[in-house]
Amino acid sequence: MKILLSGAKGQLGKELTRRLKGTDFFATDAAEMDITDQPATLKIMNTYRPDAVIHCAAYTNVDGAEENGETAYKINAIGAQNVAAGCLQCGAKLVYVSTDYVFDGTLGRAYSEFDQPNPQSIYGKSKLAGEMLTRHILNRLFIVRTSWLYGDGNNFVRTMLKLGKERDTLRVVNDQYGCPTSTQDLAEAILALIRTEHYGIYHAANTGVTTWYDFAKKIFELAGLNRVKVLPQTTEQLARPAPRPLYSPLDNMLLRLTVGAVMRPWEEALKEYLAQQT
Ligand SMILES: NC(=O)c1ccc[n+]([C@@H]2O[C@H](COP(=O)([O-])OP(=O)(O)OC[C@H]3O[C@@H](n4cnc5c(N)ncnc54)[C@H](OP(=O)(O)O)[C@@H]3O)[C@@H](O)[C@H]2O)c1
Repeated sequence: MKILLSGAKGQLGKELTRRLKGTDFFATDAAEMDITDQPATLKIMNTYRPDAVIHCAAYTNVDGAEENGETAYKINAIGAQNVAAGCLQCGAKLVYVSTDYVFDGTLGRAYSEFDQPNPQSIYGKSKLAGEMLTRHILNRLFIVRTSWLYGDGNNFVRTMLKLGKERDTLRVVNDQYGCPTSTQDLAEAILALIRTEHYGIYHAANTGVTTWYDFAKKIFELAGLNRVKVLPQTTEQLARPAPRPLYSPLDNMLLRLTVGAVMRPWEEALKEYLAQQT
């Protein structure tokens, strides 16, 4: 199976690149395939003619999207539409990676694939628009929603490790709940799905639920930075530009029911990730 990756220099893209090494695959980022440039995207896809595309490219600055809404829609919605058009042209399957931020966080339990999205932020709205546009174009489509992602790149774990070395006390939000997810485990789930014909919407997150506050405490505990004192803070006190869902854990129901994949608890994945950091 020939696989083309978009956004290959991002966190998830790097992990997939690592796993696909030695196979017939083509890694692209904005320099090779700017997904907002439709003719260029169609041309590259028509030249390589993949059997499957894993679309990791995205505008992921959640707060930045509140000010740069048009850029967020251009990349997350129109860009995804261009990639889907390229897939249609060469008969490729598509994996569109989406987010728990398509939900409003008011349900009071983990979201399954059958729950209704209602994004509150521009980022969440633009990602949901990408879901809808790709669905209009393709039947052979996997929409894979994930959350609180960390891998090789800027992410919460690396930020905490950096701040933990510089400071003795940190304030972290303790009223947002979700599922921290390792790019290693997400990449494995995507590569299992893509070899099947079980098209549809999937949630793929490490299991268990936590807050950013307890996540930070676990990072310091596992990293041996026990001297760092973590203090709780509310979302209101933090006052970030973009609204975030307060309770958006993802239930991976369809992964369990179709490919039988069970993702590990977030603490186990975090432990492995921290052991790999130097
Ligand atoms: N990070 C999270 O916590 C999180 C949570 C839930 C879902 N997701 C979703 O998971 C996916 C992967 O996220 P990630 O954390 O790996 O993202 P990331 O690290 O921000 O990587 C995104 C990549 O896309 C590239 N890109 C941006 N605009 C592009 C364009 N016009 N054409 C081609 N490439 C472009 C970026 O390049 P530049 O860096 O040069 O802009 C970057 O290499 C995304 O769909 C994201 O929405 C992420």
